[in-house]
Amino acid sequence: MSNPPTVKLCDVDSLDNESITTTEIDGRLIAYARIGDEWFAIDDTCSHANVSLADGYLEGEDKTIECPLHGSLFSLETGEALTLPAIKPVVSHTVSVTNGEVFVTITGDTK
Ligand code: FES
Repeated sequence: MSNPPTVKLCDVDSLDNESITTTEIDGRLIAYARIGDEWFAIDDTCSHANVSLADGYLEGEDKTIECPLHGSLFSLETGEALTLPAIKPVVSHTVSVTNGEVFVTITGDTK
């Protein structure tokens, strides 16, 4: 079994605190966020409908993202859907920081 791919997302200085943006990795849209020194990565598409979660509202204190369409809250840490109408999680991925560079390991299942 091969190891999951680890890909550089960005340099630490390239994303402002409490910001979220997206990138595409192997055809998969990943939303990644910075809250202080913590970084998070989840699949970008809401589990309820085909909407970009990165277009939603980041809540740094709670480490959540609110879907811009119907308002479900998702945990940036686990991808769990915390409020309705979404009930399924989005896949969360492992993020690491080394020497000022941010990397994501695509750990979750493909949809
Ligand atoms: S599309 Fe995200 S909660 Fe409905």
